Amino acid sequence: MTIQQLRLPLSIKPSVSQRPDLPYRTRFKSALAGDLNFHGKNSAYASHNFHSFPAKFPPQLPRKFIEWLTNPEDLVLDPMMGSGTTVLEAFLLGRRGLGFDIDPLALRLCKAKVTPASLQKVTDAGYQTLEQANIALQHDATSLATLLDNRFDGATREFVDYWFLPETQLELMALICEIEKVQDVIIREFLELAFSAIIITKSGGVSMARDLAHTRPHRVSNKTPRSAIAQYRYRLKKNIQSLVELIAGKGNVILLEGNAQSLTLKDNSVDLIITSPPYAANAIDYMRAHKFSLVWFGYPIKELSQLRRQYIGGESLVDVQLLEMPDYPAQALAKIAKRDKKKARVLHRYYSEMTRCLSEMYRVLKPGRAAIVVVGTSTMRGLNTETHICLGEIGKNSGFDLVDIAVRKLDRDKRMMPARKNAQPNSQIEERMHEEYVIGLYKTTDRLLKGDQLCLKKSDGEFCLRPESMMRCLTQSARPG
Ligand SMILES: C[S@@+](CC[C@H](N)C(=O)[O-])C[C@H]1O[C@@H](n2cnc3c(N)ncnc32)[C@H](O)[C@@H]1O
Repeated sequence: MTIQQLRLPLSIKPSVSQRPDLPYRTRFKSALAGDLNFHGKNSAYASHNFHSFPAKFPPQLPRKFIEWLTNPEDLVLDPMMGSGTTVLEAFLLGRRGLGFDIDPLALRLCKAKVTPASLQKVTDAGYQTLEQANIALQHDATSLATLLDNRFDGATREFVDYWFLPETQLELMALICEIEKVQDVIIREFLELAFSAIIITKSGGVSMARDLAHTRPHRVSNKTPRSAIAQYRYRLKKNIQSLVELIAGKGNVILLEGNAQSLTLKDNSVDLIITSPPYAANAIDYMRAHKFSLVWFGYPIKELSQLRRQYIGGESLVDVQLLEMPDYPAQALAKIAKRDKKKARVLHRYYSEMTRCLSEMYRVLKPGRAAIVVVGTSTMRGLNTETHICLGEIGKNSGFDLVDIAVRKLDRDKRMMPARKNAQPNSQIEERMHEEYVIGLYKTTDRLLKGDQLCLKKSDGEFCLRPESMMRCLTQSARPG
């Protein structure tokens, strides 16, 4: 493919009614009240589709709030950035994007998605890697097999052998060896992303897994995986085409490995937050899917399993600190505990972690600014967890004003959601699984959070401490039971 064959950049038009005449909070409310479904809209522009990612939100969602609520160069934060939809939109709209995640694949793919690599260089290097990998497969398969033998430790080797056929392993080895030879870091990372994208797909890509997107992989013995070489060629072409649109971006982005529960940011420093946390109880288990490609980048499987424990919404109850909850989530937890104590504790862990995240969001956000948290709800032992209402309450307890909770209908064909066993078609709960909630939080100018205490502004302009501590710890080290 030559550069001349590529499509020209799309002009990304701003949405119409942003109402700059309205006061900020009214504008925020009005943005929440408008259409947030975005059905039928193209979500694949720029680099948004470089790589699949479960439960990413449509780019139109962060775009709308960025356009309505920020000015060029404002700082837009996503503390759990996932595939980087928010930070990429900030970049395309000429804002400063700031993203955190603990997932190594999320960090890698965000970086490639916001870096407009040279078209000529990626095209040349990309097709060179393909050509050389083919040559190695045809003429030097024995050396490739030796390299493959030495690449993984014992446990990682077992994992790779279970999930990838020997012929696929050889093809992947040939490709990764050629990609690793590329000196230019930006180009190499672009190619690594194309490599990863052929492994992590809805259908399990070139592995023997099915349904990787739902991060509940099952090995399918009768699957005939597609050729890794052919898939890489296809993906490379697609990503190079998308790169053309990325080049139109005018902003800049900082991506950091970091935990959303303790952000390395100054108080009152961010202009807008748009984020979507993981589901409770590991409904989407990111690491379980991402390790399929991370092992090829040199991550030992044991290290990845350790990291998995740090993900918000995990199921382990070892060494977790459960926090006291406000009324609504406390009652919801009590109802679930009547049916299943363990499940209630897992959900309690999630709400405790989200309490820390929301407190951090409150701390780093400038007064008079908005935070948007997009969540789905789930069912536990037949009860709807009403996650959106619980998180809204926790947000209020962290100091925010709850402006509204908007509902958006998921495009069933697009968004990859947790699969549910034994779902009753058309039941009310099942309907809710196809909805998502956009929680609109606002940090007023008359409150400040100092340490772990909420301060209210008095009429004379002084701040006083609210008496009760906000994050009282219920247990030091809760254990399953
Ligand atoms: C629902 S996804 C975000 C999807 C994102 N909105 C998008 O459009 O791609 C949630 C993300 O939270 C990240 N995450 C989980 N625990 C975290 C933590 N403790 N700190 C930061 N990020 C975390 C996961 O790795 C995952 O990438």
